[in-house]
Amino acid sequence: MPSPSTLPAAHPLVSGGTADSPLITAYRGGRPATRPIWMMRQAGRSLPEYRALREGTAMLDSCLRPDMAAEITLQPVRRHKVDAAIFFSDIVIPLKLAGIDVDIVAGVGPVMGEAIRTAEQVRSLPELDPAALAPIIEAVGIVTAGLGSTPLIGFAGAPFTLASYLVEGRPSREYLHTKALMRDEPETWHALLAWVARITGTFLRTQALAGASAVQLFDSWAGALTLDEYLTFVAPHSAAVMQQVEDLPVPRIHFGTRTGHLLVAMRDVGATVVGVDQFTTLDAANDLLGGTTPLQGNIDPELLSGPWEALAANVRDVLQRGLAAPGHVVNLGHGVPPDTDPDVLTRMVALVHEEG
Ligand code: CP3
Repeated sequence: MPSPSTLPAAHPLVSGGTADSPLITAYRGGRPATRPIWMMRQAGRSLPEYRALREGTAMLDSCLRPDMAAEITLQPVRRHKVDAAIFFSDIVIPLKLAGIDVDIVAGVGPVMGEAIRTAEQVRSLPELDPAALAPIIEAVGIVTAGLGSTPLIGFAGAPFTLASYLVEGRPSREYLHTKALMRDEPETWHALLAWVARITGTFLRTQALAGASAVQLFDSWAGALTLDEYLTFVAPHSAAVMQQVEDLPVPRIHFGTRTGHLLVAMRDVGATVVGVDQFTTLDAANDLLGGTTPLQGNIDPELLSGPWEALAANVRDVLQRGLAAPGHVVNLGHGVPPDTDPDVLTRMVALVHEEG
């Protein structure tokens, strides 16, 4: 790993105590005294204090108001005592900051003003002016001041997942236009993914330099690809994103859903930690990865709305299987469903801390 001097002296990993936190210790392959846990989508609709604060503010506006984004980021840390904060933003924020017409429609997800499908459209995509990232830097500063020695995780969307929103124009189950562009117009495809990789990599690096102690690249929908498609059309661009933070001593997590067949390839683009959903057990993932890569995962979110004993049994199974890997950070499948009872989450975090 590069020396911490590549980060500013005031960075929490250098002088703020996060380097010795359970989270960073486990990401680096160590075994802290208690197993660390955080949850994707821990900040958001499951929390009444989130719903109250968001009232009257559009989703993407809330991400770009530093005080609000910082407060929302801190809410689940206060309430659940999780071992990390995940920066409250969205994977489409760098697109919006570059000037792309994008909105988040409640109950749907990211929707584009126009779908990007032609070579001409790809040629006209704007570059991201680094000055536009000022609200992100400010929000990260407020968050890390409030967190003390608890690490902040920065994140970005990977080129394939972001491109699928750009090409389909909205969330899709089939990715028909995306796969057609990939197959039929490889030059346009690669130009599009290279553009996405530049701006999303800038977003990720900005968060790391501003104070995030780890970063996670979300390729939520990469599981829709075959291994061959992933290696040919996606991996070089995800590697380009990872390269934008490789000189910094921040652990790099890579996560996607239903990616059991892609775990090695997703590690090999430059991740130091692999995130696994509930469809691959942690011991199987560890075998696939050769026993050298710290893992993150993988409580089944469907159990959150059922009997406590079934959830507790799953938590204990995850803790047990996680021992196979060189380091283990507990997480929750694809994250917290919006209708989850937050008290169940608090109790689950406590169980991980007691028994992990
Ligand atoms: O779900 C996925 O993995 C798809 C890709 C993706 C989106 N956002 C698109 C989106 C990912 C990985 C994100 C990341 C994200 N979004 C984070 C970081 C990581 C995490 O898991 O905590 C955060 C903090 C957000 C914030 C966010 N975006 C919230 C709270 C919401 C819900 C809307 C609201 O008004 O509260 C969104 C919208 C959003 N972004 C959706 C999707 C698919 C869901 C739209 C909906 O169901 O309303």
